[in-house]
Amino acid sequence: MLQGSPNSVDKLIRSFGRIKSRKLSNPKKNLLDNFLPHHLLSKDLKGFQNQKKQENILEIGFGFGDFLFNLAKKNPQKNFFGFEPHINGVVNLLNLIKENNIKNIKISTSDIRQQIDIFPNNFFDEVYLLFPDPWPKNKHFKRRLITNKFLDEIISPKVKDSAKITIATDHDDYKTWILANILNCQNFVWTAQSKADWQNFPRDWIFTKYQKKALNEKRSAVLFELLKNTIKHD
Ligand SMILES: C[S@@+](CC[C@H](N)C(=O)[O-])C[C@H]1O[C@@H](n2cnc3c(N)ncnc32)[C@H](O)[C@@H]1O
Repeated sequence: MLQGSPNSVDKLIRSFGRIKSRKLSNPKKNLLDNFLPHHLLSKDLKGFQNQKKQENILEIGFGFGDFLFNLAKKNPQKNFFGFEPHINGVVNLLNLIKENNIKNIKISTSDIRQQIDIFPNNFFDEVYLLFPDPWPKNKHFKRRLITNKFLDEIISPKVKDSAKITIATDHDDYKTWILANILNCQNFVWTAQSKADWQNFPRDWIFTKYQKKALNEKRSAVLFELLKNTIKHD
């Protein structure tokens, strides 16, 4: 069990699986020990100029980092922040950052819920939650990260009024769960007008490792795009 966040949840139930899968080779260990510190998110958000004036993008659970890396490379003027506790994935992203001399990504290996308070309120322009762990067994539903409480209480204060949240999944049962939870959100509205809006991914979409696996295994993925609901509730 993880420590409670000062923010809103008293006890955090672990929402991720393994933090280490394969044994790390020496070069990978070296990346972790000597290169990660240069890209590690710090409490004072050091490293980026004028964060408040620039666009800030957050990816929660970046896996092997392919989406975050490609988006950051395409948009050098924007700031990117990625959270991922799985160390082998973190090392993969570090390698991409190093080989391509990427300057606009900060990484955290923490559970997002434990560190979100590092960021000021109204900070993020976009948040991505791509293929979050579906935790398919009934007894594990409590581990599912996406709930209306998570979105309303933890994510909502940290995003700007114009912010867009993108959630994708290929897991049928989780699709229904996510939909039920986003429809229950007070602070976000689901923007889809037609089937195409949630069944079709944008033309320039970057396919993550999980999405490629789902495609190979003939599981269709959907995406839910949410906008901040600026109408105040009592
Ligand atoms: C199924 S993987 C998908 C990875 C990647 N987004 C992709 O599409 O390839 C979900 C990832 O979310 C991470 N994760 C789960 N809970 C998290 C949390 N509370 N904070 C940050 N990352 C989390 C897990 O470690 C895992 O790597």
